[in-house]
Amino acid sequence: MKVAVLGAAGGIGQALSLLLKTNLPAGSELSLYDVAPVVPGVAVDLSHIPTDVKVKGFGKDDLAAALTGCDIVLIPAGVPRKPGMDRSDLFNINAGIVKNLVEGIAENCPNACTCIITNPVNTTVAIAAETLKAKGVYDKNKLFGVTTLDVIRAETFVAELKDKDPANIHVPVIGGHSGTTILPLLSQVEGVEFSDEEISSLTHRIQNAGTEVVEAKAGGGSATLSMGQAAARFCLSLAKAMQGEDVIEYTYVQTDDSEDAAFFSHPVRLGKNGVEEILPYGELSAFEQKAKEDMLEGLRGDIKLGVDFVNG
Ligand SMILES: NC(=O)c1ccc[n+]([C@@H]2O[C@H](COP(=O)([O-])OP(=O)(O)OC[C@H]3O[C@@H](n4cnc5c(N)ncnc54)[C@H](O)[C@@H]3O)[C@@H](O)[C@H]2O)c1
Repeated sequence: MKVAVLGAAGGIGQALSLLLKTNLPAGSELSLYDVAPVVPGVAVDLSHIPTDVKVKGFGKDDLAAALTGCDIVLIPAGVPRKPGMDRSDLFNINAGIVKNLVEGIAENCPNACTCIITNPVNTTVAIAAETLKAKGVYDKNKLFGVTTLDVIRAETFVAELKDKDPANIHVPVIGGHSGTTILPLLSQVEGVEFSDEEISSLTHRIQNAGTEVVEAKAGGGSATLSMGQAAARFCLSLAKAMQGEDVIEYTYVQTDDSEDAAFFSHPVRLGKNGVEEILPYGELSAFEQKAKEDMLEGLRGDIKLGVDFVNG
């Protein structure tokens, strides 16, 4: 298994790379790429951890070498939010970064699974899809928006509220990855009951959890450690699935479902070639159905912005 992290010297990139160095299957290779000159040092630092995972750092002119032969590429490259910013405020800088990096994937490892972390995910995944299409190598089963952070946050907050072990709480989260497009399905959480007021306040907290971190870091960026954990969970699940294990994760994928949006987070059965099967997300409560209907237009608009960015 060869895995690349693009943006590996950043807050998410370093946390994610540490977790991959310590948890990828024995014999794996880890490529760390960044435009920041510190990246070879990050690789040397990690290489001193005694696991059977080879780590190599690649500077800004070495994208092709970083990507050649990769099975999975994770992209957290780009700028994070500061207080007062919405994820869509990042579009102007991050759209071009994602497009350039995905062109590198198309040229050097067109069969890799590409996992987009860079915000605004609702839009950057569409940019990645259109970029791969323009290069003639798009496979909708191999492109993922990483929304795992919404799932782990939802599980943590529910466990806290109901005094449960978070390991035993499973919260489906569908939709997109920004504001009201993040839709936790609290009606489907097994083993706990919620009042209407709890559903409303928990849903709001899960949707705005990223802003909680941005404000607490007071200008120092957004979630990096919890995001590193979330992205590592997603990558390790994908790696297991590519080696034959049966794994389901929630992720933002192309759905071809005209009733929702072209990209939408679903429970997805992962397999050797990426998406094995997009599973239905089940019955929604009246509250969830209304929340979905209210956010769909915004999500479709976010996706269109990405399509138009590439196609002009
Ligand atoms: N999907 C999610 O749930 C989620 C959660 C939190 C943050 N994010 C997003 O992840 C991104 C990164 O956040 P962060 O906190 O790690 O930021 P950061 O500023 O700490 O790190 C970003 C890194 O990207 C690098 N970079 C910039 N341009 C690059 C390029 N062209 N090629 C390679 N590397 C490049 C920078 O040098 C830096 O090291 C942001 O867009 C943020 O909004 C996503």
